[in-house]
Amino acid sequence: SRIAVLASGGGSNLQTLLDHFAGPASHMGDIVWVGSDKPTAGAMTRAQAAGVATGVIANPADGGAIIAQLDAAGADLLVLAGYLRLIPEAVVRAFQGRLLNIHPALLPAFGGPGMYGMRIHSAVIEHGALVTGATVHFVDEHYDRGPIIAQWPVPVLPGDTPAMLAARVLRVEHRLFPLCVAAVASGAIVLGDDGRVHGHLDV
Ligand code: GRF
Repeated sequence: SRIAVLASGGGSNLQTLLDHFAGPASHMGDIVWVGSDKPTAGAMTRAQAAGVATGVIANPADGGAIIAQLDAAGADLLVLAGYLRLIPEAVVRAFQGRLLNIHPALLPAFGGPGMYGMRIHSAVIEHGALVTGATVHFVDEHYDRGPIIAQWPVPVLPGDTPAMLAARVLRVEHRLFPLCVAAVASGAIVLGDDGRVHGHLDV
């Protein structure tokens, strides 16, 4: 698979994907393009350092322009790795079953518009939740609402600050996301016409 990644932030999830597909999973896919709505995002620097082509998403609401950039890169799988903008419906349709996102909570809990970054972990602690985690899902036209591919639990510990919890969840994200992307790239996991996820993750 030719994998494109969209990211808005520091890009630690992107980095794990770059490492994974340059190393152990190099036979399963290549990261061919990284796009961001933030030209100075750390993710763009990481892509450039890895020699991967990058592009700016000038208008995140312009699905046609995004599809043109993805087609120019020959991408057949689109991965959101800390991308904070809503994906236009035209892109969701064009990449049906080939568009993944990772969210640092156990969806449907603590997800949706406005739930991103430290706010998620603050809300988890505020609510007294004892378990949180990471979710990888296929993307539909709503924030954080597509069919779930995989989840992994992370304990909330006494005295946790949002930053401590975020770091613990991020370590799990870095383990889970590359496996999920590789499983979809290889066809081991597919989104059925019934809108349900078929196949499973070999962890
Ligand atoms: C991660 O927590 C991810 O789950 C969320 O945004 C954060 C991105 O972090 N979507 P990074 O840019 O990959 O370090």
